[in-house]
Amino acid sequence: MAYFGISSIIIVLLRLATSAPSYTPILPPSYPLAVRNPYLNAWLPGNAAWNLPFASAQFWNGLNLTWSVIARVDGQSYSLFGVPSLGPGVQAGVLQSADYTSTHTTFTVTAGSATFVLDFLSPVSPLDYVRQSAPFSYLTVSASGIDGASPDVQIYSDIDNTWVGQFDPYIQVGWGYTLTNESTSIMTLTPGGKPTYSEYNDTAQWGTAVYCTKPSSDSTVTATVGGMNVVRAAFAANGSISEPWEWQYASVVAYSHDLGKLGEKKSNVTFAIGYWRQETINYLGDDRTAYFTATCADPQCGCTHVLNDYADADAEARKLDAEIAAKATSVAGANYSDIITLSVRQAFGAMDLTISADKLDTADPLAFVKEISSDGNVNTIDVIYPMAPMFYVLAPDYLRLLMEPVMRYMASGGWPLGYAIHDLGAAYPNATGHNDGIAEEMPVEECGNILMLAYMYQQATGDKKWAEQYSGLFQLYADYLVENGLYPTQQLSSDDGLGDIANQTELAIKAAIGLNAYGVMTGQTNYSDVGKAFAKTLYDDKDGTDDKRTHFTCYQGEDESWGMAYNLYPDVLLNLSTFPTAAYAMQSSFYPTVRMPGGVPLDDLVDWGKTDWMMFAAATAVAPDVSNEGVRDMFIDDVHAYITNGINAVPFSDKFHLQDNGSFVTGQWNQYLARPVVAGHFALMALDGPSQFGKGAAEPKKAHGDGGDEWVQVVYEGPAA
Ligand SMILES: *[C@@H]1O[C@H](CO)[C@@H](O)[C@H](O)[C@H]1NC(C)=O
Ligand SMILES: *[C@@H]1O[C@H](CO)[C@@H](O)[C@H](O)[C@H]1NC(C)=O
Ligand SMILES: *[C@@H]1O[C@H](CO)[C@@H](O)[C@H](O)[C@H]1NC(C)=O
Ligand SMILES: *[C@@H]1O[C@H](CO)[C@@H](O)[C@H](O)[C@H]1NC(C)=O
Ligand SMILES: *[C@@H]1O[C@H](CO)[C@@H](O)[C@H](O)[C@H]1NC(C)=O
Ligand SMILES: *[C@@H]1O[C@H](CO)[C@@H](O)[C@H](O)[C@H]1NC(C)=O
Ligand SMILES: *[C@@H]1O[C@H](CO)[C@@H](O)[C@H](O)[C@H]1NC(C)=O
Ligand SMILES: *[C@@H]1O[C@H](CO)[C@@H](O)[C@H](O)[C@H]1NC(C)=O
Ligand SMILES: *[C@@H]1O[C@H](CO)[C@@H](O)[C@H](O)[C@H]1NC(C)=O
Ligand SMILES: *[C@@H]1O[C@H](CO)[C@@H](O)[C@H](O)[C@H]1NC(C)=O
Ligand SMILES: *[C@@H]1O[C@H](CO)[C@@H](O)[C@H](O)[C@H]1NC(C)=O
Repeated sequence: MAYFGISSIIIVLLRLATSAPSYTPILPPSYPLAVRNPYLNAWLPGNAAWNLPFASAQFWNGLNLTWSVIARVDGQSYSLFGVPSLGPGVQAGVLQSADYTSTHTTFTVTAGSATFVLDFLSPVSPLDYVRQSAPFSYLTVSASGIDGASPDVQIYSDIDNTWVGQFDPYIQVGWGYTLTNESTSIMTLTPGGKPTYSEYNDTAQWGTAVYCTKPSSDSTVTATVGGMNVVRAAFAANGSISEPWEWQYASVVAYSHDLGKLGEKKSNVTFAIGYWRQETINYLGDDRTAYFTATCADPQCGCTHVLNDYADADAEARKLDAEIAAKATSVAGANYSDIITLSVRQAFGAMDLTISADKLDTADPLAFVKEISSDGNVNTIDVIYPMAPMFYVLAPDYLRLLMEPVMRYMASGGWPLGYAIHDLGAAYPNATGHNDGIAEEMPVEECGNILMLAYMYQQATGDKKWAEQYSGLFQLYADYLVENGLYPTQQLSSDDGLGDIANQTELAIKAAIGLNAYGVMTGQTNYSDVGKAFAKTLYDDKDGTDDKRTHFTCYQGEDESWGMAYNLYPDVLLNLSTFPTAAYAMQSSFYPTVRMPGGVPLDDLVDWGKTDWMMFAAATAVAPDVSNEGVRDMFIDDVHAYITNGINAVPFSDKFHLQDNGSFVTGQWNQYLARPVVAGHFALMALDGPSQFGKGAAEPKKAHGDGGDEWVQVVYEGPAA
C-alpha cells in the first residue's frame, strides 16, 4: 500500500511539472517583443517560449540579444526570461501561458510562491505620430502571490551591447546613467567609431540603446553597470545591486526593483527599452530624425516621456487590440484574426516616421520602410503596394507619407528614366535615390502600383490636392502603361525571383487596373477607357486566359501556364470594375484546382506561395456577386495551418513551401522574414472601407519639453569606445 501511495504522489507531481503551457490564440512562429522600427526589432522564437527562462531574445535575423528578467522570491532567485545559463543557486521559473494580440506579447511564469506576468508592449498608434514614432517598447513585470502567499519579491532586468549591434563581449561601449528629479533611471549604451547610417548584419551601428525605469508605487530601484555574472550574482545574494559601476568583460546595464512583501496586492514595474537614432534616415543627403524628436531631443527625455506615457499608450493599444481582433473575426473568423494580429507589429515595425533633423518641422512628416530580409531597399514601391490594405484600414495617410518621399525625388528630376522607380535607395537607411538610373527595373509593375496607390489614398481620404501636385508624373506613368502595359516587354514583376519574361499576364492586369484608377482619379475617362480595353483584350478576347477561359495565364499565349492573379484585388477594393465580375469568379474557382498540399502556389512554375498574395486572392474571391467564401476560407486556413505547424521559428515569413521537394517540406518558410508585406493580410478587412477605427492624422505637437521631468543628475558615465 505504501508503495502505491508514493508512486501515485510521484505521478501527480510529474503531471504538475509537465503540464504544457497554454498558447493563446496560437503558438506563432515567433513572438514580437520589442518591434518598433527596423533597428528596434526584437523577437522570441515560438519554439523557445516553453523554455522562456533560458530563451534568448533575438534580432529579427536571429542574432541573440541579451535581455533578462530574474525575480527573487523570498530570497530565492528564479530566471523568468533570457538567461541561457543560470548562475549559482538560481532556479528557473515555469512558463504557464503565452499569448499575443496586435500590440502585446504576454508570458505568465510561476516561480516559488509567486506568479509573474511579463507583458511586452510595442505600441501601434497609427493616428498619433508622436507615439508611433517613439523608438521605444515596454516591458511590464507584474507579481502576485500564489494561493494567498505573500512572498517578498525583487525583480531584476538587464541588457547589454548586443542592443547596439555589438556582439563581441570584449567591446568597450560608451555608457551613461542619468537619474531625474522624479527618480527615473536612464541607462544608455553608445557604440563608438562607426559611420552614421552604417549597419552590421542589419543592426544599426550608430545611435544609442536606452533602458529606463522608475519606482512603481511600491518599489525602490537600484541600478548598476558591470560584468553580467557579477551583477546577477549580487542581485541573487542581496536583492539589490549597487556595484561596480564599471564596464568590464561581458557587461550589462541592470536594474533591480524591490517590491517587498506583496501581501494581497498585485504589483508591477515597467521598463522602457529603446534605440535612439538622432539621425534616423539619410534622405537625399538631408538628415531626417524621428517625428518624436520634436517632442524629445535626446534619449533621456525620450525614455522618460514614454514611461510617463505608459498608461495612455497601453490603454490605446488595448483598445486597438480589441477593435482589430473583433473586426477580423467578424470579417472572416478566428483563423483570420490570428493571422492579422500577428502581422500588425511586424508591419509597423519596418518603418520610421520622420521629420527634418534641423527644422523639426512636424508639418512635413515622411515615412520610410525597409524591405527587411529580401534586400534592405528603401520605400520599395512593390512593397508599399502589398502593405496598402493595412494602411487603408488603419491610417490611409501613411500611403501618402510613404509615397511622398518617392514622388518628391521623382519630381526633382534625379531619376533619369521615363517610368516609375523601384525604390528610393538600395540600402536602408540611405534614401539617396538612383541618379545613375540603376535600380531594379520593374517599369510596368511600379507605374501600375503608383497609380493604384495614389487613387487608393485619394479615395480613402478625399484629399485630391496631393495627387494634383504630381499630375505630370502620374500622367507620364499612365502614358507609359498605355504604350507598354498590355504586352509588357521582357521584364521583372514584383515576384522578381521568377526572372524577367515578356508578356506576363499579371503585369498586363496591373496596367489595366492602374490606368482605370488613374482615369477615375483625374476624371480623364480616356485613360479608363484604355484600361477597360486592356481588360477586354485580356479576359473577353482571351489574350490573358486559356482558350477555354478557365483561368488567367502566367504568360499570355501559354494556355497551360497560370498564376495567382493578386493584381485583381485593387479592382475589387476600389470598385473600379475594370474587369467583369465573371473574371474574378473564374479565377477564384480555378484556385482550388491547382492547390498543393500546403496551399496555392504563386504560379505553375514554383511550389511555394506568398501569404500576402494569398490574402489578396482571398479578398477577390468574396467580391460582390462572386462571394466564394469557400475559396476565401481555403486561403485563410492554409496560411493559418502554416503559422501553426510548429516547424518554423522565425518572424512571420510571407513565403513558404507547399509540398515536400527533397530540400523543403510542406509548410516550411523560405527566404523572407519579418517583412512588412504581411500588412497585405488586411486585404479582406479593407473591403469594409477605409479608416475603420478613427480618421485623420496627428496634430503637430509642440516642440520640446512636455513638462514634468528633467535630468538633474548625471551620476556616472563610461568612456566612449
Ligand atoms: C543564442 O542563444 C541560444 C540560447 O537561447 C544559444 O543556444 C545559442 O547558441 C546562441 N547563439 C549564439 C550565436 O550565441
Ligand atoms: C549609408 O551611407 C553611408 C555613407 O553616407 C555609409 O557609411 C553606410 O555604410 C551606408 N549604409 C548602408 C546600410 O549601406
Ligand atoms: C552576419 O554576418 C556574417 C558576415 O557577414 C555572416 O556570415 C552571418 O551569417 C550573418 N549572420 C546573420 C545572423 O545575419
Ligand atoms: C551585498 O550588499 C552588501 C552591502 O551593500 C555588499 O557589501 C555585498 O558585496 C553585496 N553582495 C554581493 C554579492 O554583491
Ligand atoms: C500596474 O499597477 C498599477 C497600480 O497598482 C495598476 O493601476 C495597473 O493596472 C497595473 N498594470 C498592469 C499592466 O498590471
Ligand atoms: C507578346 O504578345 C504579343 C501579342 O500576342 C506578341 O505580338 C509579342 O510577340 C509577344 N512578345 C514576346 C516577346 O513574345
Ligand atoms: C486623354 O485626354 C487628355 C486630355 O484631353 C490628353 O491630354 C491625353 O493625352 C489623353 N490620353 C489618352 C491616353 O488618350
Ligand atoms: C460600385 O460602383 C458601381 C458603379 O460602377 C455603383 O453602382 C456601386 O454602388 C458601387 N459600389 C460601392 C460599394 O460603392
Ligand atoms: C483554422 O485553420 C486550421 C488550420 O490551422 C484548420 O484546421 C481549421 O479547420 C480552421 N478553422 C476554421 C474554423 O476554419
Ligand atoms: C526545392 O525548392 C527550393 C526553393 O524553391 C529550390 O531551391 C530547390 O531546388 C528545390 N529542390 C528540389 C529538389 O527541387
Ligand atoms: C522636476 O523638474 C521639473 C522641471 O524643473 C519640475 O517641473 C518638476 O516639478 C520637478 N519635479 C519634482 C518632483 O521636483
